[in-house]
Amino acid sequence: MTDLDAALAAAGPTGLKERIAAELAAVRERSLAYTDADDDMLVRQHSLLMSPLVWDLAHVGNYEELWVLREVGGIEPLRPEIDHLYDAFKYPRKDRPSLPLLDPAEARKYISGVRGRVLDVLDRVDLTAPDPLRSGGYVFGLVLQHEHQHDETMLATLQLSRRPGLVRDGELPPGRPAADPEVHIPAGVFTMGTDTVAWAYDNERPAHRLYLPGYRIDRHPVTNGAYLEFVEDGGYRDPRWWLPQGWEWVERNGVEAPLFWTRDGDVWWRVRFGREEPVPPEEPVQHVSWYEADAYARWAGKRLPTEAEWEKACGGRTYPWGEADPGHHGRWANLGHRAARPAPAGAFPDGASPYGVEQLIGDVWEWTDSWFQPYPGYRCFPYEEYSKVFFGETHRVLRGGSWATHPSAVRTTFRNWDYPFRRQIFAGFRCARSEE
Ligand SMILES: [Fe+2]
Repeated sequence: MTDLDAALAAAGPTGLKERIAAELAAVRERSLAYTDADDDMLVRQHSLLMSPLVWDLAHVGNYEELWVLREVGGIEPLRPEIDHLYDAFKYPRKDRPSLPLLDPAEARKYISGVRGRVLDVLDRVDLTAPDPLRSGGYVFGLVLQHEHQHDETMLATLQLSRRPGLVRDGELPPGRPAADPEVHIPAGVFTMGTDTVAWAYDNERPAHRLYLPGYRIDRHPVTNGAYLEFVEDGGYRDPRWWLPQGWEWVERNGVEAPLFWTRDGDVWWRVRFGREEPVPPEEPVQHVSWYEADAYARWAGKRLPTEAEWEKACGGRTYPWGEADPGHHGRWANLGHRAARPAPAGAFPDGASPYGVEQLIGDVWEWTDSWFQPYPGYRCFPYEEYSKVFFGETHRVLRGGSWATHPSAVRTTFRNWDYPFRRQIFAGFRCARSEE
């Protein structure tokens, strides 16, 4: 049980309701901040990979309506004619701008109407009911995490738009070099996944025991400076480092550096939320695909960790530093958009796992070698389209959350997944090695 779970249990149903109401207000404030722009900015498609921002905005309200109002509250649909527009499985993202979507003013009105009724349902629902959607407020955890995930998607869209002045930045602690850049994790059995984290998704369950041989894992995520050595060494021109599909991807797209990087003479620059700046060497690399992460690891004489190796390196806790909810504390990790970038390597010694592995949570999502597959004993809940339809050898698992991930939407058991060629997400990686 985490501190958060313990606090919720101790607070009883009333305290839990207050906490949920506060979290709902905070996530909505965030969504409205990311869509505080002119209508053209919100309805335009900035990349074929992404929805218009106004789609994400109405979609979070529609999802909240489906799950809290209809499923739990038993309330009739507010606007049944728009449901199909906001069904994420109905139309691909590239087609969404041509749909008759709610305009920004209508979208804001719709989601605020939904939210008012959601607070009424929260007021009257029994959070101690045995029904798994009501119990412990699971359905509210579902919509809260969903909205935070879309907020992170909106940040990726804002980055792709290359428009300056829309995303705030902030301060981060300084980095610190590691005396030993790798950490040894001894062979042995550990528990992967969870049965106890209150708002964990179906794909994080059930907890199961797993034996891993000994291995070494990087103490910090791979930095821009380290990644630049691969670039300067001709890494993108040498098929030896790439899997065949990765090499084909490099050649077809003419890839020669992480997304948003450009070279000017000897200096590499990047665009970050519409501002150009030199690439900071001590910051974890982001906007690389799984193919790039995999190629770098091979060039470095290493490999990507499996997701089991990544999770074991966290030391069997809800967070690497223990059970304390990262909440509003900045001591342990760079989460929740404190600044609009990853923190330099070594910035969070207090957030280290018991093994001494740092920055596992926050900064950048970390690509792992693993395909997104169900755990033994997996049971789909509450719907197939959250995880089940994505299982198989199509998506690679990412772990740990990024600087853009909210503390309520990440933990050491949390699993994210994407295609191996995706680069617009805030993803980097660390390497591992088997022991001889
Ligand atoms: Fe969604």
